[in-house]
Amino acid sequence: MAAAKFIFLVLSLVAVSVSAHNITAILEGFPDYSSYNSFLSQTKLADEINTRETITCLVLNNGAMSALTAKHPLSVIKSVLSLHVLLDYYDPPKLHKISKGTTLTTTLYQTTGNAPGNLGFVNITDLQGGKVGFGSAIPGSKLDSSYTKSVKQIPYNISILEISAPIFAPGILSAPAPSASGVNITGLLEKAGCKTFASLLASSGVLKTYESALEKGLTVFAPSDEAFKAEGVPDLSKLTNADQVSLLEYHASPDYKPKGTLKTAKDPFGTLATNGAAKFDLTATSAGDDVTLHTGISPARVNEAVFDSPPVVIFTVDKVLLPIELFGKSPSPAPAPEPVSSPTPTPSPSPLSEAPSPLAASPPAPPTDTPAGAPADGPAGSSENSTSDKAAGHVTAPLLGSIVFTIFATVVSSYVGLC
Ligand SMILES: *[C@@H]1O[C@H](CO)[C@@H](O)[C@H](O)[C@H]1NC(C)=O
Ligand SMILES: *[C@@H]1O[C@H](CO)[C@@H](O)[C@H](O)[C@H]1NC(C)=O
Ligand SMILES: *[C@@H]1O[C@H](CO)[C@@H](O)[C@H](O)[C@H]1NC(C)=O
Ligand SMILES: *[C@@H]1O[C@H](CO)[C@@H](O)[C@H](O)[C@H]1NC(C)=O
Ligand SMILES: *[C@@H]1O[C@H](CO)[C@@H](O)[C@H](O)[C@H]1NC(C)=O
Repeated sequence: MAAAKFIFLVLSLVAVSVSAHNITAILEGFPDYSSYNSFLSQTKLADEINTRETITCLVLNNGAMSALTAKHPLSVIKSVLSLHVLLDYYDPPKLHKISKGTTLTTTLYQTTGNAPGNLGFVNITDLQGGKVGFGSAIPGSKLDSSYTKSVKQIPYNISILEISAPIFAPGILSAPAPSASGVNITGLLEKAGCKTFASLLASSGVLKTYESALEKGLTVFAPSDEAFKAEGVPDLSKLTNADQVSLLEYHASPDYKPKGTLKTAKDPFGTLATNGAAKFDLTATSAGDDVTLHTGISPARVNEAVFDSPPVVIFTVDKVLLPIELFGKSPSPAPAPEPVSSPTPTPSPSPLSEAPSPLAASPPAPPTDTPAGAPADGPAGSSENSTSDKAAGHVTAPLLGSIVFTIFATVVSSYVGLC
């Protein structure tokens, strides 16, 4: 069972890794679309596009882009551009063979949750004289953008077509765009069912750190109130102030990472707690549309964003993220039965070791995090019935995780290497 899950995960990861196209790289060959390309990167739509198959990008040349980008904030530009990514494959022949001459097609904008009704659909209509018009699917909208030329096709994964002018959905340009510095983090968190987290941020002063990161980009992973009540969550009020700050800073990353970006992130990434030697990083894995964060202790599921307006995105997560730097060490100072001669104490990865935190003595070791996110009832359970090998349960659990991970990483990288 666990093996099956493991293989499934490897396969799904590989599926992401061999993503068939890189829109940024493709468009680099076409200087006419450099502005469009740059905004796909800034808004991170490029990552979203790269995780999808069977899509069509309607590109705008630099002239058509300048009218859009001069007047509008990045969040509006992202909405408009996501209306230009069709979740279907249209090459020039298909454009001219639309049955009954008109159709509505879904776009990436429809997947954002900001598009009620048909707002995220585009109307494609074969007009007279071989002209193909594009417009919003909202009845009464004008088809005032038209197909101009084909840019590139990789059948049937991605088609890139140039159109004459941006497509707008009604209201898309006037959507309220909060300036990044004006984002009310605690207000949003409270509304999203993360009151405990919001009040911890405020009382610890870490809120200020979050706020000062808003302008440059911020991704927040806010544990729900239920997550704080879950079994195995250490009593955070017993942490030293410094560790509580690290823990809270660990729940945010200092740049904009919407879901598509988390899906394509192959390497561990830093958090606000990352600081020189203290890694405090997170790893994201995905299977289909699900994204899981791994701390090295226990996995957490990332829910849909409760706020996404570049450069700020706020997700809720179903677990408190426990960094291995604070919670990963053996609860007892019992040394492993190793070379007795070792004159130096085993280096502890945890800054906690200096502080006599009560946490060090608290028994409920959280379940081991294997990248497969699978056997939560695995080796950690054995610590309940400790045999002669005292610390074994706690020591081997993370170790096993990292061995599994190493094998896993090797399998994945060799597989990718072959492709
Ligand atoms: C299309 O995508 C699939 C799946 O990602 C990939 O296996 C295939 O090689 C791609 N086709 C081309 C022509 O790149
Ligand atoms: C896509 O291409 C760009 C530009 O060539 C490159 O910087 C980026 O790393 C590529 N992305 C992936 C996922 O390979
Ligand atoms: C697309 O727009 C045109 C012009 O407004 C309209 O006549 C047509 O019915 C629309 N197509 C669909 C499928 O709604
Ligand atoms: C943020 O939102 C909360 C809750 O809605 C509210 O009490 C607070 O006054 C807001 N803060 C600012 C600076 O607007
Ligand atoms: C551990 O489990 C064994 C077998 O179930 C049992 O005999 C033994 O008493 C248990 N030890 C403790 C400390 O619970």
